Amino acid sequence: MHLDHIGVASADVEADLDRYRRLFGAVPYKVEDVASEGVRTWFLDAGGTKIELLEATTPDSAIARHIEKRGPGLHHLAFAVDSADEMFARVRNEGLRTLNDAPKLGADGKQIFFLHPKDAGGVLTEFCSPDPGAPRVPTSDGTRPEAD
Ligand code: CO
Repeated sequence: MHLDHIGVASADVEADLDRYRRLFGAVPYKVEDVASEGVRTWFLDAGGTKIELLEATTPDSAIARHIEKRGPGLHHLAFAVDSADEMFARVRNEGLRTLNDAPKLGADGKQIFFLHPKDAGGVLTEFCSPDPGAPRVPTSDGTRPEAD
């Protein structure tokens, strides 16, 4: 298991992308809409750490509500595991609550689920694993900005 990425809720993607570019020389290497969640995810490599910038695409999405309640900023930590299914069973076996009834397909073609922040010291925690059974779908909308 290792830290896979840090999720950051963004209320101003253009400004955030511009700052990552200026400070880290980082431009998004992938942009993906997860329509079912009302979110657009921008993946950046900031000094070797993967940042998942989360932009709400619908006003009632979880990210929009999060920003409304807490403002933009740190949203979740994501840990990579070999099997999200096995981790899910382990978490449930430990009597911990999850936000999902089962692992589901998330951004990056991964199987993901979230541990309830109330059972994780206040930190929204994601577990993700590659989904070998997932169909390979195009993951970029081709709008990634170029560095100048
Ligand atoms: Co994530």
